[in-house]
Amino acid sequence: MESAILSSFRAGIVAVSMDGTIAYINPIGKRILSGCSLNAGENIHPRAGENIFFRVLSEAVALHYLPTRVEVELPGRDGDRQYLGFTLSEFKEGEKRVGICAFFKDLTQVEMAEENEDLNRRLLLLGQMAAGLAHEIRNPMASIGVHCSLLKHHLSQNEKLLSSVTMIAREIEKVEYIIRECLNFVRPAELGVRNIQVDKLVAGILERFISLNPVMEFTMRKQEGVLLESEADAGLLEQAINNIISNAVDVCEKKGKVEISLGISRHFSELMRLGRNVDPIVHGHSGKEAEFIRITIRDHGPGIPVEIQDKIFVPFFTTKKTGTGLGLPIAQKIIHAHGGVLDLKSVPGKGTDFIIKIPVRQTSG
Ligand SMILES: Nc1ncnc2c1ncn2[C@@H]1O[C@H](COP(=O)(O)OP(=O)(O)OP(=O)(O)O)[C@@H](O)[C@H]1O
Ligand SMILES: [Mg+2]
Repeated sequence: MESAILSSFRAGIVAVSMDGTIAYINPIGKRILSGCSLNAGENIHPRAGENIFFRVLSEAVALHYLPTRVEVELPGRDGDRQYLGFTLSEFKEGEKRVGICAFFKDLTQVEMAEENEDLNRRLLLLGQMAAGLAHEIRNPMASIGVHCSLLKHHLSQNEKLLSSVTMIAREIEKVEYIIRECLNFVRPAELGVRNIQVDKLVAGILERFISLNPVMEFTMRKQEGVLLESEADAGLLEQAINNIISNAVDVCEKKGKVEISLGISRHFSELMRLGRNVDPIVHGHSGKEAEFIRITIRDHGPGIPVEIQDKIFVPFFTTKKTGTGLGLPIAQKIIHAHGGVLDLKSVPGKGTDFIIKIPVRQTSG
């Protein structure tokens, strides 16, 4: 009876005896920790370095006061993050502590949904503001553009002035580009989906990068024996991938290596965590683990400091002199519109992986 209750408990339970041996772990606990498998009988101390949860378990046996209601972040599968919430208590025989017990829950979906909701709220406000601003700026810009063209005609004899006016016209084009991209970002994405082979699309994109950056090395690796077909808007998906590869090229300062790998990933929690049903492909999902096409774009640049990782998807955030800061937000918006996710894994000093996942084509209709 006791063991039936423990096995069906909806939270993870792990008991550690005073010498660090895992005395018990219930099935749901094993499932939550499937990314770093933990079994009864093994010792927690040698595994303390693997993640913060294991470190807390290892150190807690010797702690006088045990922490309660703690949330930690663990590295999860495929470069994702996993959030655990736990509470610790001691278990005793008589007055003597014989071990500690952790009750834990996977908070990943809750955390991610909150993060997403918060971002969406900010984006909505920003979107309304940007659309208003863009509208107001567009007309005077167009008027300056027309006057520049008129001036150019009159200044054909004066090289210096002509070059100044040409410069003004070029800057206006830049402002117009920013306004256009900004409005594109604010408007909901309308997808013209068709069946595409993602590896072919990526190969085409790479060809262009190779011809534009002959000093760099671009490699593409595909998981063997899988079909990488998706219902996608080829033009938009290409734009998203382009934006991410462009960033990789920028950080390599136009030399170095960018590696792209393609494969299939199974991950359902990501759809749950976004809590969206914006996309007809995902709508009515069966609730089973879904199959995603995974495109990983790896560079060996300086990496992205942890403190700015949250900001890089915010429109207009840039660390570049001539950047607009719209590349990643646009890429993310396009991928979300496809029912996918964009994640990143970055090691400062070593490089960055951007991981795109979009649902594979559902053959059953
Ligand atoms: N692969 C990468 N390695 C390191 N930092 C990166 C990488 N990709 C993006 N970043 C950081 O994220 C910021 C935002 O990127 P994003 O593509 O949105 O804008 P941008 O590249 O600055 O400008 P643009 O609008 O021209 O793309 C960059 O300025 C850079 O600081
Ligand atoms: Mg960019």
